[in-house]
Amino acid sequence: MSKPRVFVTRRLLESGLSLVQEFCEADIWFGEMPPSREEILGKIAGQDGLLCLLTDRIDAEVMEAAGPGLKVISNCAVGVDNVDVSAATARSIPVGNTPGVLTEATADMTFALLMAAARRVVEGERQVRSGGWKTWSLDNLLGADFAGATLGLVGFGRIGRAVARRASGFGMRVIYTDPNPTAPQPGEEALQVDLDTLLHESDFVSLHTPLTDETRGMMNAAAFAKMKATAVLVNTSRGPVVDQPALYQVLKSHQIFAAALDVTVPEPLPTDNPLLTLENCIIVPHIASASRQTRQNMSRMAAENLIAGLKGERLPNCVNPEVYGREQG
Ligand code: GLV
Repeated sequence: MSKPRVFVTRRLLESGLSLVQEFCEADIWFGEMPPSREEILGKIAGQDGLLCLLTDRIDAEVMEAAGPGLKVISNCAVGVDNVDVSAATARSIPVGNTPGVLTEATADMTFALLMAAARRVVEGERQVRSGGWKTWSLDNLLGADFAGATLGLVGFGRIGRAVARRASGFGMRVIYTDPNPTAPQPGEEALQVDLDTLLHESDFVSLHTPLTDETRGMMNAAAFAKMKATAVLVNTSRGPVVDQPALYQVLKSHQIFAAALDVTVPEPLPTDNPLLTLENCIIVPHIASASRQTRQNMSRMAAENLIAGLKGERLPNCVNPEVYGREQG
């Protein structure tokens, strides 16, 4: 029996690659850079499945180019804002993602960024390399305290809660907002508040929300105006949640203390972006889930979603489960 045909938009790590190659006739894009729009539209034609990364925009046009045989879209990321999920649902195509396996790694990176920004690690490193370290002094690179500080989590899903668990070990008070709150578990002690209260009271604000119409641009000039002058902002969610020109203004004028971003608009961020001129802004290249084991687990989970969809089985992690209800009904 012939194997199902799939397009994979980038090289997966071994745990996923071997599964895909065993089960599918796979056209894998081995380029370092993502396939262009034209290349995706050309390669997807006639495929049974698509395994893509967050760098690929998968919309109705791609689904049409695939043709009626497309059975599954598997995104190798937890966020699916690069996929038009409604367009997939309208075509009864299940969309898979990779939740859970990247929670701890992303929470670790969030804390690394919180600490680096608050304690000016990157500035300190630059000071040493540039010969600016003249002597030990009482006021060189003073930063923020963690013990007793308030951490505000915008989004209290898996990752936000994992950050709350870490914060309790640092003696922090944790508050959060979430449109669909679930009660904190033991070890995740946190108080639910509204966004205004969170912005006013937090010494650290960390974003853990998906990108939606509601969250796009939510951290804008008006939101920054509510934050403390000593506050630190960390974004490991999606770049467009933050209004970057507004962030530049408040960092430059020291209306907030510092920011650390794992995600930006656009990605990659051009080297002439004004944010990169600021000492109080740290930017890393969307690597919050980039631990060795996590990326293996994401690759495997994306392959498992793809294969389940090709077999006509329910995806282990499906973001539009309504496609199944519709088929049965
Ligand atoms: C990374 O940003 C992801 O959504 O997995």
